[in-house]
Amino acid sequence: MQLQRQSWGSKIGVILAVAGSAIGLGNFLRFPVQAVKNGGGAFIIPYLISFLLLGIPLMWIEWTLGRFGGGFGHGTAPGMFHNIANKNRFIKYFGVIGIFGPIAIFTYYTYIESWLLGYSIFSITGKLAACQDQTSMVAFLQGYQGLEKNGFFSSLVPAYIFFILTFGINLITVAGGIQKGIERVCKYGLPVLFVLGIVLMIRVLTLSPMYVEHPDWTPIAGLGFLWNPDFSSLLDAKVWLAAAGQIFFTLSVGIGVILTYASYLTKNDDVILSGLTAAATNEWVEIVLGGSIAVTSAFLFFGPAGIKDVAGSGAFNLGFVAMPLALNHIPYGSVFGFFWFFLLFIAGVTSSISLAQPAIAFLEDEFNLDRKKAVKIFAAVTFVLCNMTVFLLGKGFLDEFDFWGGTFALVLFGTIEAILFSWVFGIDKAWDEMHAGSDITLPRFYRFIIKYITPTFLVVILVSWFLREAKDVILMKNVPDEMVPFIIFARFILFALFVAIAYLVHIAWKQKEKKT
Ligand code: PFF
Repeated sequence: MQLQRQSWGSKIGVILAVAGSAIGLGNFLRFPVQAVKNGGGAFIIPYLISFLLLGIPLMWIEWTLGRFGGGFGHGTAPGMFHNIANKNRFIKYFGVIGIFGPIAIFTYYTYIESWLLGYSIFSITGKLAACQDQTSMVAFLQGYQGLEKNGFFSSLVPAYIFFILTFGINLITVAGGIQKGIERVCKYGLPVLFVLGIVLMIRVLTLSPMYVEHPDWTPIAGLGFLWNPDFSSLLDAKVWLAAAGQIFFTLSVGIGVILTYASYLTKNDDVILSGLTAAATNEWVEIVLGGSIAVTSAFLFFGPAGIKDVAGSGAFNLGFVAMPLALNHIPYGSVFGFFWFFLLFIAGVTSSISLAQPAIAFLEDEFNLDRKKAVKIFAAVTFVLCNMTVFLLGKGFLDEFDFWGGTFALVLFGTIEAILFSWVFGIDKAWDEMHAGSDITLPRFYRFIIKYITPTFLVVILVSWFLREAKDVILMKNVPDEMVPFIIFARFILFALFVAIAYLVHIAWKQKEKKT
């Protein structure tokens, strides 16, 4: 007998949970770095266009498919695809990406999240205030990560303790279930996050220039650096790829987590307005808070040329080096530093729990396991994977998982979903399904966008990636020789994970066939 599926407690609860998944490290760390790297104002136009043509449509597609699949007792992509594609025998295997991708991201995301917990403590206890220049702040970070033994840290033990705490918080939350675990954490976490974010933004925007010799390094000039539009970027394929990739990552679309969250809706729950609200909340946080806090403070400290170096010199330098350095220069800097890192930690937790849920839902729905058992299996597998990230950090392991799980899989899976939705399920049925129980009716041109523009845009992105970069990436052209064995190892693990999930899908359906 099928166990009773869970459901959300309230409409605001599910919106906050989806917004919580979307709002994460991507908003505060990845977005500003991508924007600065891609020329500041040049980034923003492709970004907004990608939001309208890819992000929003995929959000609706996933809410709709998720609710639809939940009606059949399926919380993950294999079962959903199986049902919309007339039970075609092969289509469900495309859905494997929707379980694989979230696990791949979870593997490294949780570890980075744990640094934020550590850094919250280092801020409030004044440890970060002791690092007065870039060299020592970088050394602090590398010591913490175990990349270098130095005066700050002699071992990985502190990082490991924070990792175990973070991992535990995630598992306890998902073990609590949809309403009592995920919904509750997001309901309390997001308001705290908003308040901390707004306080920090106001603090940063009202700072005066830090250096007498650079009176023009002001907050407004910092904002201008990011926001003054530069239309020449519209012709640059690289900027488009980066912008579309950021939209996927920040909205948590194209990977399966929203499918799973939406599967706990009931048949007549609204999806259009709720999906839009969650997406709009994410964009507000990304653009208003994510686009002002880190960039402005780093600009005040490093100036226009320096900030480019910082953003270009490593994914974490803006958040873990530039930001605490800048905060060291203001009164009560350690309190504001705590706000910054703790805000990021909350943002991280509400995202990583969404990454855990698809695998757990898959075990519950397709193997009839109870939640405790499903969580235990998930914990055992991801604990091993996370440890690889912890111990192989300097060897490119994290970046490899990020690329295949956090970039490639998103675009690929998004393309598959968009095609299945409009062309296999069929736009007529899809449009009706979307509008069932809806609080609003969409203008008809969105039907055209969802049917033609979104899939075409996605295919163009995939094809241009294949033409421009696939060969170099696959052949590891830019990987230093000593890292090659580790990258191959990471790929082997990813491949094994994928095959294992595909095999589980195979077994689950075999068992179902036997029963009928
Ligand atoms: N959206 C999250 C962020 O911006 O940090 C990251 C993320 C969470 C991506 C969940 C994908 C996902 F499924």
